[in-house]
Amino acid sequence: MRLKADTTTVYLAHAPDFAPLAALLSPEEQARAAGISLPGPRARAVAARALVRTVLGTHLGANPHELRFGQGEHGKPYLLQGPEPARLHFNLSHTGDLLALALGAQPLGVDVEAVRPLSPALISMALGPLERARLQARPAGEYGRAFYRAWACKEALLKAHGSGLAFGLQRVQLSVPADLNAAPLVEAGPRAPADDWTLQVRWLGSAHILAVAATAPGLTLQRITPVCARTGHWAAEPLPAPSAGIPRVPDSNG
Ligand SMILES: CC(C)(COP(=O)(O)OP(=O)(O)OC[C@H]1O[C@@H](n2cnc3c(N)ncnc32)[C@H](O)[C@@H]1OP(=O)(O)O)[C@@H](O)C(=O)NCCC(=O)NCCS
Repeated sequence: MRLKADTTTVYLAHAPDFAPLAALLSPEEQARAAGISLPGPRARAVAARALVRTVLGTHLGANPHELRFGQGEHGKPYLLQGPEPARLHFNLSHTGDLLALALGAQPLGVDVEAVRPLSPALISMALGPLERARLQARPAGEYGRAFYRAWACKEALLKAHGSGLAFGLQRVQLSVPADLNAAPLVEAGPRAPADDWTLQVRWLGSAHILAVAATAPGLTLQRITPVCARTGHWAAEPLPAPSAGIPRVPDSNG
């Protein structure tokens, strides 16, 4: 399966669909999952690893069970081909039962967030003073959604870079576009390896936002389901346009 050099593909999955594919995991992954005592988080951990293995296996024409992974300094997983990192880049995000796996030929990061009521502590952890002021200047009722867009974009950016939260959310500064469907520009943040990072955002139904940071400008969203639990074969179709539109986020600011 070939990847377009200029496009990131994000596969969206329902974790319970992939939890039965535990046999695809390596013995170490199975042992790690077995150590998670709560059944829900355990099943989600299995599903996440199974999703990564089955999708990467198909793209490489390899047995999903035999794929091997390394980890960057701050824990970013990457695929190994022989002793070297593979040219196929991936990144995973999960919230509740929603899994998002981004795949591309360029460095990338993905984040999905469940849209919930805001707390002042969350806002001051994630945004710098200028960003907070810009958000406060938004029309009443848009503050919460603009916050979640900023937060998801920052996490996607730090995951693309690989440093994660260790870099510092407040060292990243994003623009605040008026259109809530538009992606912010990166005004300050971690450097991309080649071209600048491009951010993309999609509202998923009424409860989630997805953000992708990549050096590739294109984005395709696919809904993925497993077809065979034994082999890990799967089917994917383009994600239909969200029916419920942009969610309203209750918060004290409007
Ligand atoms: C990566 C990180 C931003 C994830 O945040 P999150 O919103 O809770 O989780 P998400 O569901 O979006 O992503 C989790 C996945 O990201 C991937 N990941 C882990 N570390 C990563 C990193 N440094 N960069 C990119 N991706 C990473 C893993 O696949 C992980 O999946 P797993 O939990 O099943 O192993 C955060 O955990 C982090 O910064 N980790 C690095 C360690 C660190 O620097 N901690 C700082 C404490 S101040």
